[in-house]
Amino acid sequence: MSALELYSLKTELLHAIAEASDLDKLEEVRIAALGKKGRISELMQALGSLPPDERKAYGQVVNSLKTSVGEALEARRRELARTATAEKLSQERADVTLPVPEGPLAEGRIHPVSQVTDEITEIFAAMGFAIAEGPDIETDFNNFTALNMPPEHPARQDHDTFYFAPAADGTRALLRTHTSPVQIRAMLKTKPPLRIIAPGRVYRCDSDQTHTPMFHQVEGLVIDEETHLGHLKWVLEEFCKAFFEIQEVKMRFRASHFPFTEPSMEVDIGYARDGDAIRIGEGDQWLEILGCGMVHPNVLKNVGLDPDRYQGFAFGLGIDRIAMLKYGMPDLRAFFAGDLRWLKHYGFPPLAIPTLAAGLS
Ligand code: DAH
Repeated sequence: MSALELYSLKTELLHAIAEASDLDKLEEVRIAALGKKGRISELMQALGSLPPDERKAYGQVVNSLKTSVGEALEARRRELARTATAEKLSQERADVTLPVPEGPLAEGRIHPVSQVTDEITEIFAAMGFAIAEGPDIETDFNNFTALNMPPEHPARQDHDTFYFAPAADGTRALLRTHTSPVQIRAMLKTKPPLRIIAPGRVYRCDSDQTHTPMFHQVEGLVIDEETHLGHLKWVLEEFCKAFFEIQEVKMRFRASHFPFTEPSMEVDIGYARDGDAIRIGEGDQWLEILGCGMVHPNVLKNVGLDPDRYQGFAFGLGIDRIAMLKYGMPDLRAFFAGDLRWLKHYGFPPLAIPTLAAGLS
């Protein structure tokens, strides 16, 4: 190929490169010039058939052609890529005033029972109570006998207990009917002074609009050498004010009977119904929310504590009940029906963690 032909090939290729209007067209030009069967590649292959004395000069010329074309291709490619990006960006628009799409965190809901349990533990933790736990499947001893309800005690009948089949030694495990057995576990494990609450599931064979076979309680227990009934009243009043987020709460302590406390009381809370809304601390309606009392000397003896030295109080509070009252949920059965629409309506955002400082609800 003559020098003139080489020159015009170069002009032609550079022209084609300059004219390529997008990256695809540029790629076609590159293949036609430098591809396996491209014009420049063919010139390189022709090198072999030249007489040796011409090869060097020819090789240099073709190589420099190849370099110039390669550089021109790269420069144009960059330029086209830049315009392609700029064009794409000019067509894409983000409306930053649109609401942020809801992610899975915004979709999920915390069940009111979990939320209210967290509220309760937050309040008692701030008063210096520790959290204790016990299993749902309990021994007859922890659930009844140690709590001053020996076999044949009539109070056992009130509990509609779910029993397991008897074991080889004749003992029968059961689903705990209250959280009170955690008192026994706590006292057997830790020497007084003791200050615990124990939230959890409890089971009774009972079902109607206000009863479900599984529900939730929180147990409280304080044991030391000088705790008295006044402390119990103060703790429960402070708890109710904090939980219902009101300055004054109307409470009624009614004499009652539980085998594991002496004296025993039931506590009602005063409320007014205002259409669908419930106002706590006003009005003249009463709802029972808990049982409580001073721990019975027999219970202390049953866990090896000397009742002449140690004393304390205990209480058992229905979590589902006070959740219904605080958040105005009318039917207990809906709590456990697993209906997502209900959960969406009454549930709590996952990051709404109750704290006393930021407000419980
Ligand atoms: N365990 C009782 C129940 O489920 C509630 C209760 C009453 C618990 C008095 C107590 C208490 O700790 O002192 O009905």
